[in-house]
Amino acid sequence: MSSTPVFAAPSESSVESRPPILFALPKGRTAEESLALLEKAGLTGPLDTNSRKLVLPNADNSIGFVMAKPWDVPTYVEYGAADVGICGLDVLRESGRRVHEPLRLPFGHCRLSVAGPKDRPDTPLRYASQPRIATKYPRLAQEFFRKRGVNAEVIGLSGSVELGPVLGLADLIVDIVETGSTLRANGLVEIRTILDVQAVLIINRAAYQLKSKQIQGIIERIRAVI
Ligand code: PRP
Repeated sequence: MSSTPVFAAPSESSVESRPPILFALPKGRTAEESLALLEKAGLTGPLDTNSRKLVLPNADNSIGFVMAKPWDVPTYVEYGAADVGICGLDVLRESGRRVHEPLRLPFGHCRLSVAGPKDRPDTPLRYASQPRIATKYPRLAQEFFRKRGVNAEVIGLSGSVELGPVLGLADLIVDIVETGSTLRANGLVEIRTILDVQAVLIINRAAYQLKSKQIQGIIERIRAVI
């Protein structure tokens, strides 16, 4: 496999047309590791991710990179607005989007867990009445409790979920735990792991067939460096 980069800084003339392959990358927490991986794989050069341009093409305009909100990446890829994407397994499973998942990537490691106040007197998950669960993952939380016969009331929040039990909004939370320091700082403990999470490469199903040569090239380049 050639290690020659296929990416260089875009020229002004290359940005007009839509590149044949669009690659959606998550902004935020895993952006740096995603870009580093693609650079190592020879798929990108330095990208100006602060640019206001929404599609950052490579030198020959064969791949365009889109910096997207992490929760939007599976949506772009399922609908074919992007052919390829990187997102967390937590976001992908919560989204329920139907895409190919050819590779797990070596970053973004954490877990989706149930947590609650450390001084709770009752046995975790056993409730006489309906427990309230605060979470950014209502679908996965609902499924977890339903499968265990717990009639939970799931309350959707968009961040700082640990506040739920602290403010008396919820009995438990379902949230991402990485180092555990946010839980500890708020007097919470992990009770059960729902999902082991890491970053995942996802591919639009139709593009996987119709653009197989380019897509396989991308997969192989990434596989070679992980
Ligand atoms: C995530 C997650 C936890 C925290 C866990 O939040 O929702 O709050 O990180 O990390 P730790 O185990 O290393 O403490 P994020 O920083 O993404 O912000 P948010 O809560 O506002 O979504």
